[in-house]
Amino acid sequence: ATPLTSNSPHVVITAGPTREALDPVRYLSNHSSGKMGYALAAAAVAQGARVTLISGPVALPTPAGVTRIDVESAEQMHQEAMRLAPEATLFIGCAAVADYRSASPAEHKLKKQADRDTLTLTLIKNPDIIADVAALPAGKRPMVVGFAAETQQLEQYAHDKLNRKGLDMIIANDVSQAGLGFGSNDNAALLLWRTAQGTEHRLEAPQPKTQLAQGIIRQALALLSF
Ligand code: C5P
Repeated sequence: ATPLTSNSPHVVITAGPTREALDPVRYLSNHSSGKMGYALAAAAVAQGARVTLISGPVALPTPAGVTRIDVESAEQMHQEAMRLAPEATLFIGCAAVADYRSASPAEHKLKKQADRDTLTLTLIKNPDIIADVAALPAGKRPMVVGFAAETQQLEQYAHDKLNRKGLDMIIANDVSQAGLGFGSNDNAALLLWRTAQGTEHRLEAPQPKTQLAQGIIRQALALLSF
């Protein structure tokens, strides 16, 4: 790895799923493995960055040289992201954040009701972490890179998401392709980034997430002139 200096970029990455408590023993979550975010963290260290990983619950070892902050819920991830982002050079939102959480997590374990066959949960929207980071004022705003998992019209939806969330770059994955994306070791992606003229893009063929991560970090650091 390149030695760290005071000029080294600080890269903050969110990774993995979030867990939204329903009661003290149950939660809502998703199948994110964290592999892509952890691969990005390792690639950023290898390319000379100081790296902080804000991680939801995953079964992965912390890459060497990475500072890891463990969180569970979207609200906790949001809090750590807003604390760290103003000091960061580059923020990458790779976490599969739950869009909703329970409106009122039960204080005690929910009991099965003998007389009722249905149970209604009320959910409320979680904060959009990456959009809030992208909305930080100039001077406190890192370069912001997001992910998009799509099953169709990759470029169109990636473009929309880039604009809607105010991102600088987006990595769009086609999750309809078998053996790619969620949980797997390989990924294909469309990289789309803002330029002074508009946007540019590049298609990355299916490849190991570790290799794709290197290309994403290289592109982002190049845009930052590192
Ligand atoms: O809107 P969607 O979930 O498809 O956007 C995905 C991107 O937004 C990812 O970069 C993800 O990490 C980020 N995101 C976030 N906070 C949310 C939802 C998504 O940071 N609440």
